[in-house]
This record gives sequence, structure tokens and C-alpha cells, in this order.
Amino acid sequence: MRQPPARHGDPLEAVDTPALIVDLDALERNIARMQAGAAAAGVALRPHAKTHKCPVIGGWQVTAGAVGLCCQKTEEAERLVEGGIKDVYISNEVVGDAKLVRLAELANHARLSVCVDDARGVAALEDAAARAGSKIDVLVELEVGGGRCGVRTPQAAADLAARVAAAPCLSFAGLHVYNGAVQHVRTAQERRAAAVALEDKVGQALALLTGQGLSCGRITGAGTGSFAQDLEAGILTELQCGSYVFMDADYARNRDAAGGFEQSLFVLATVMSAPASDLIVVDAGLKALAFDSGPPLVHGHADLVFAGPSDEHGEITGPAGRMPAWGEKLELVPGHCDPTVNLHDFYVGMRAGRVEKVWPIAARGAGR
Ligand SMILES: Cc1ncc(COP(=O)(O)O)c(C=O)c1O
Repeated sequence: MRQPPARHGDPLEAVDTPALIVDLDALERNIARMQAGAAAAGVALRPHAKTHKCPVIGGWQVTAGAVGLCCQKTEEAERLVEGGIKDVYISNEVVGDAKLVRLAELANHARLSVCVDDARGVAALEDAAARAGSKIDVLVELEVGGGRCGVRTPQAAADLAARVAAAPCLSFAGLHVYNGAVQHVRTAQERRAAAVALEDKVGQALALLTGQGLSCGRITGAGTGSFAQDLEAGILTELQCGSYVFMDADYARNRDAAGGFEQSLFVLATVMSAPASDLIVVDAGLKALAFDSGPPLVHGHADLVFAGPSDEHGEITGPAGRMPAWGEKLELVPGHCDPTVNLHDFYVGMRAGRVEKVWPIAARGAGR
């Protein structure tokens, strides 16, 4: 069994490193802010649990007013349902009998919805649901600029929706229209242009669905970067933002960012070597931080640069003679929050300088 890096009541200095630290006040404010934004716009909020992978934080989001949670993997859905979340949307295509058997069984224990973008996927889901004796809500994914999964045309979305509606154990629940490519586009003007394109393509799909006599219960999409522009476009009924709970160094580079979300997630690291006057080495490298969106920032030290990660080391350079001391603890702001979380076993929740909560990251891992 893994030992947690801290105990209730410990001060920050006593937390073993590397550790994932959460500022609980900032986390709570972020949850409340996004919920208030969704409520003011009259849309549902279904936060993405791919960010935190933790039913406890998900439970806080539901208590604040979220209709349920999104996740990407069947295993994530299982951990969320085990943790008491009653309405879970796998906002992703699920392929392969081993997963589908579990997914269809899970639908007997919670309200479950899932994405499709292929007629073969619809047939496989129907077969699994029939065997499990469950009923599954299905959303058709329409590609809206992300260039990832999703049928490419409104007509293809309408055709696939008709197949779902005709399947006895499935029900057509709506359209999935998430554009991952736009989330980190830096200006609000460019994000607005993407939202207008989304509105146009989804509008065409809705007209076709109506022509077929199909009603579209949910139109779900948006992330922390695009939700404000997507709300302005006015076509979504549900937001699936995830990163807003924690934020990260890359989201901080978006200009005109909406929501006023605060950095609440840090990787705590210790200076394990101070070999030169302008160089320190911390005990957090590639195995404690994700680098796909750039290196971490050193919180409260604008003059320090995280210059070189290796597996278990992080080289930090800065002004000669004014570097943090050997043994000092530093808070690092991850470049990208989701894959950083995935590297850790526990959250250490801090309030007023003391450890208040230690939670396992129940759904961490690649996720089958
Ligand atoms: C399908 C889907 N929805 C929502 C999100 C949440 O986006 P963000 O974490 O940027 O808010 C993601 C993130 O990758 C996603 O893949």
C-alpha cells in the first residue's frame, strides 16, 4: 500500500515530496464561480472529472449544483459511481467488448450516457446493453473543429442519431460538440470565431434531426478556455469544463480569460541539491509533472526558470546568489493539470497552512 505524503494537521513543511497540493479555498471558489456562470446563462454544468479523477471533488461539484460528471474512460466512470456519483457521461467513444460489458453493467447502477461516432459502435453498445438488461443514453459526437473523433457532417450526425433511436436498449440523448483545439487559442476573438462555426454546424444538425422527428435533449461541449464564447453563441445546453477547478500554467497564458479562476493545484518539491550559485535541483521531474504544455512555473518566484527535467530531477536556474536554499520546499504550477494529476496517488488539501484533507486519486492511471 502506498503511504500518503502527509497527515491531517501537518504544516506544509512536513509534507513529503513530491506531492500534489490543493489550495482548498481556491478550489471551492473555482467550483462556485463556474457553477454561478452556468446558472446565470441558464445551462447545465457537467464538469469533466478527467481533470481531477476523484469522486470526492466530483461530489463537491454535484453538491454545488452540477447535474452530474463527465469522464473519458469506463474505469473513471466505475470509480465515480463507486464514489457516489449518480449521473455519469463518458464523453468519449468506447470500443471493445471487455469495456462494453462493464459499461452496460454500470448502467444498471447509475444514469449513464456515452458518445458514439460510428454505426458499428451503436451496434456493439446495443448488443452489450441487451445482454446486461440495461438502458443507455447515447450522444452522437459531431466534430466541430477539434479534428479528433466525431462524425464530420451534420447529415452523418442525423443518420447516426436515427440508428441510435431505432435501437431498443439505447436512447438518443443529444449531440456531443466539444472542440479541444480551441481551448488554448490565446485570444477571445479567435475563440469566438470557433464558437460561431460550432453554432452554425450544430444548427444544421439540429434542423436535420427535427426533420426526422428526433428531439435533441442535450447539446454538450465547451472547456475552460471556450465556455464564455460558447455561451455567447447560445447553442449549448450543457458545459463540460474540467480544468477550471485547478488551472495550470498553460491556461494562464490565455488572454481575456473568462471566469477569474485561480491556481489551486501545485506540485510541492524539495531542493535536493544546490550545486552552483545559479542552479538548484528539485525532487520533481518527468515522473511528478507533465511537460506536454511546457515546464512548470515556480510559484512566487518569477525570476526562477524550470530549465531541465529528467526522470526524478528538476533543474531550476535563476539569479546567482539569490537561489532558494538546500532543503527548501517550492510550489510548482504544473504546465498542464490533467496529466500531472494522473502521475500522483493522493491529493493533499491545504487550508490556512495546514493539511485538512488527504484523498486518493481513485481513478488515476491510463484507464481501460
Ligand atoms: C471531451 C472533453 N470535454 C471537456 C474537456 C474539458 O476541458 P478543460 O479541461 O480544458 O476545461 C475535455 C478536456 O480535454 C475533453 O476532452
